[in-house]
Amino acid sequence: PGFRAEWLPQIDSTNSELMRRARAGRLEPVLLVAGQQTAGRGRLGRQWFSDTGADAKLGSEGSLTFSLGLPLAPLDWSGLSLAVGVSVVRSLHPDLRLKWPNDVWLRDRKLAGILIETANLADTPEARYAVVGVGINMKPRAATGLSTPPAWLGEVLPGVEAPEALLRIAAPLVRALKLFEANGFSTFQAGFNERDALGGLAVTLSDGTTGVAQGVDGMGALLVHTAHGLKKVTSSEVSLRPL
Ligand code: BTN
Repeated sequence: PGFRAEWLPQIDSTNSELMRRARAGRLEPVLLVAGQQTAGRGRLGRQWFSDTGADAKLGSEGSLTFSLGLPLAPLDWSGLSLAVGVSVVRSLHPDLRLKWPNDVWLRDRKLAGILIETANLADTPEARYAVVGVGINMKPRAATGLSTPPAWLGEVLPGVEAPEALLRIAAPLVRALKLFEANGFSTFQAGFNERDALGGLAVTLSDGTTGVAQGVDGMGALLVHTAHGLKKVTSSEVSLRPL
């Protein structure tokens, strides 16, 4: 609703493209889908790898890659990426889980990743723009060099192709973003905790602290029960600790 959808056969990164447009003052709502990304980006400066497809059809490269760009001016941005994760997972399948902050997992393997970037062109709410990038593995991936092979959507939705997956996700995602803008993260907290992949498990924080994950608070911070009490984790990485 009110969204223009645009498909590009090839682009470096749908997030980069929408961020470039935003910086050039183009703040319109748009859904940008790529046949193929040549420099897909993940969180923390990582790459989002794409197998090179022979032809650039939607999702032909093995992953569905798109970004939703829209003007967004919530009072508080905390928890936005978690809210997006909750929406994406709800749109796809009940078996999917969220690994804080927003990786989508199928059991112990990653199925999808989310990268959110924001542009702030001036000091007014109208000048705020959010780019919500989503990458979903659609097919079994060839050797990725990762220790565990990624999950792919056909495992839970047999036969589902990229266009259908996109249709399932896009409209609820726009609604979720509007809801977030109006109410912040608190309306998504219970939804996240229902889908929390880490709850009750032993985790290691990036500073080496270990503890047991206890879900998220109303701001989206991960609560970890440690020997020194309850810790609130707001950024960086958490890894599962092998028992
Ligand atoms: C992650 O797992 O760290 C996040 C991966 C996000 C990948 C998507 S693909 C579409 C959009 N464009 C990008 O360059 N990245 C996101």
